[in-house]
Amino acid sequence: MSVTDEVLGILENNRGNFVSGNEISKKLFVSRNSVWKAVNSLKALGYDIESVTNRGYRLSSKSDILSAQSVGKYLSYDLNIIVVDETDSTNNYLKKLASDGGKEGTVVIARTQTKGKGRRGRSFYSPENTGVYFSLLLRPASSAEDSLLLTVMAAVAVAETAMECSDSDISIKWVNDVYLDGKKICGILTEGSVSLENGGLDYAIIGIGINVLTPEKGFPDDIKNIATAVYSENEAQGDVKSRMIGGVLQKLLDMYYGKDTSFIERYKRYSFLIGKKINIIYHDRTEPAEVLGITDECHLTVKTERGEVKTLSSGDVSVKVK
Ligand code: BTN
Repeated sequence: MSVTDEVLGILENNRGNFVSGNEISKKLFVSRNSVWKAVNSLKALGYDIESVTNRGYRLSSKSDILSAQSVGKYLSYDLNIIVVDETDSTNNYLKKLASDGGKEGTVVIARTQTKGKGRRGRSFYSPENTGVYFSLLLRPASSAEDSLLLTVMAAVAVAETAMECSDSDISIKWVNDVYLDGKKICGILTEGSVSLENGGLDYAIIGIGINVLTPEKGFPDDIKNIATAVYSENEAQGDVKSRMIGGVLQKLLDMYYGKDTSFIERYKRYSFLIGKKINIIYHDRTEPAEVLGITDECHLTVKTERGEVKTLSSGDVSVKVK
C-alpha cells in the first residue's frame, strides 16, 4: 500500500477530527514531509482536507469519495477492495478477475457503469455520484442451486442497511429487488460459474446496485415511476455511499460465514408479495396467480386462477404485481 493510501486510511478512521502530522508519520514510519506530500496528493484527488498548523490534518466529515479505505472502515472482514471510476459492469470486471484466480472476498466498486446489467438481459441505470455499484466474489462450497441463497442474503443485507438509514417502509420483492415505499431502490444480479469437475460452483459473483441519492435531474422517464432512492433530498449526511456499501458487505458476509443464521425468516418477513395477486412471467407466456408464501428454500408458492398450487423458482420465472 502506498503512503497516500495509508494516510487516507488514517484520515478516514478519524473523519471530522484532526490528526497531527507527527502522529501519522510515527504510525507509518515515514517523514512528516512524506505525510504532507501524501495529503497534497489526496487534496489534488478532490479530498476536502484541512491543514492547520499545530493541529494537523482533518478530513471533512462530509467527504463521500468512495475508496477501499472509506468502505473498509465499516468492515470487520479484510477484503480486497478495488475501486474504479468507470467500467462497463462490475460483474463483468470481477468475472475476469475470478477466472484469473481472484480470491474470495474480492470486491469491485465502480463510481459509474456504462453497461450496468440487470436480470433477464435488462440494463441497470448507473449514474455517477448518486448510486453505488459493486460486486463481491465468493467461492462457496455449495451447489449451483444454493446460489439463490446468496441473492437472498444480499437482499436482506441491503434491506436492513437501508432500514438503518431511512424511516420509510423498506420491503423485498421476491427474489432480488429491494423497495422503499413501493418503488425500487436496489437490484441484485448473482452470476456464477459451474465447475465441470464436480458440478459445484467454481465461483459466484453477487452484483448489487443501489440508488442511494436521487440523481440531480431525477430518474429517466422510463423508470421514474418505479425507481426511488434510499435518501430523499437533503436528508443524506456524511459518507452515505461508503456506509451503504460497507453495511451491506458486513451483513452479507455475516450471513455467508454463518454468524447470522436467521436471515431466511427475515427475508420472508420483509417480502411484500405474500397475499398479492400477480402475473407469473414465463419465457413465452404469463399466468395470473395469487402468492401463498415463500418456502424455506426461498421459492415462491402460488395458487393459479385455475386453482393449481405451484412452487416457482426464480431461475424459471419472474413476477409482476397486478
Ligand atoms: C436487476 O435489477 O435486475 C438487477 C440489477 C443489478 C445491478 C448491479 S449494479 C452492480 C452489478 N453490476 C452489474 O452490471 N449489475 C449489478
